[in-house]
Amino acid sequence: MKIAVIGGAGYIGSHTVRELLDCGHEVAVFDNLSSGLTQNLFPEASFFKGDILNVASLHQFLSDFKPQGIVHLAAFKAAGESMIAPEKYSVNNITGSLNIINEAVACGVSYFVFSSSAAVYGTPEYMPIDENHPINPENYYGYTKFAIEGFLSWYDKLKGMKFAALRYFNAAGYDVQGRITGLEKNPANLIPLVMEAITGKRAELLVFGNDYNTPDGTGVRDYVHVNDLAIGHSMAFDQLQKTNESFIVNLGVQQGTSVLDVIKAAEKISGKKVPYRIVERRLGDTDSVIADPTKASKSMGWKAKYSDLDTLIKTTWHAYEANK
Ligand code: UD1
Repeated sequence: MKIAVIGGAGYIGSHTVRELLDCGHEVAVFDNLSSGLTQNLFPEASFFKGDILNVASLHQFLSDFKPQGIVHLAAFKAAGESMIAPEKYSVNNITGSLNIINEAVACGVSYFVFSSSAAVYGTPEYMPIDENHPINPENYYGYTKFAIEGFLSWYDKLKGMKFAALRYFNAAGYDVQGRITGLEKNPANLIPLVMEAITGKRAELLVFGNDYNTPDGTGVRDYVHVNDLAIGHSMAFDQLQKTNESFIVNLGVQQGTSVLDVIKAAEKISGKKVPYRIVERRLGDTDSVIADPTKASKSMGWKAKYSDLDTLIKTTWHAYEANK
């Protein structure tokens, strides 16, 4: 299939492009390189530098390439920032997504795969979290993801464009074959911050609270390897083609890992100490967030292959070592 990947030079985007190419798809990348890197582009995929807020450039890209499918991962994703600067998230995430959706319809795209988030659920009311869990985003970023799922659902009804919304849990790791060499710019997530503390790029890791209701008191999350997420995108296209029905699925592994588990694994794998300090809880954080991925497994046959803690940390460590 001809697939356009919007945000294909970014962290999850570049892994997804690699996977789609490996599956034999013809891929073109559209990215403004605000957080993406040319280093993470592949020569087999054509590249168009453009911004999703520029409708003319989106139109030119899509009408030239004429894709049957789109993957949309061009979004801001810092939950904390979205509470301070919601305007930025409204413009880029909401207006930008509507531009893509409108141009996709105008250019005859049949299938739309959207990068959604577990942030749509908010604080878990029960666990593991399945797709029927109430939607109650607790940050504006999560709300933008939910709003876009809503637009896609309306455009399915009104225009017949079929979509898959993939609700990622905590994306982590780097390509298991080491093919993605550019590190995420200004990372805000736990595992890259642990790497920065080990390599001396930051003085220490701040552990946000050790009085949570979890086995060791630190926050527990469901980390899913970026290669597994990438595979999820290609499977989503297979599923859309097979059934011609839109769907929403969680991509997580139903495996809880604490902040201290991550620190211990990083120390074992790197052979170095992680300088860290326990501080106050971070506003908006919760004890545990664990996915129920049964639907992705039953519907698309998706099963995580690389999301064990060892592989998550090893691949990230290798990427950081390669960038020393
Ligand atoms: C992440 C995303 C959020 C997304 C969610 C589910 C960010 C910043 N957050 O949230 O947008 O909706 O996954 O997809 O991208 N921690 C520390 N010290 C640090 C950083 C983190 O102790 O310096 C702890 C946190 O308190 C938490 C765990 O590590 O318990 C994971 O944090 P993080 O990587 O920021 O992810 P989430 O907060 O789960």
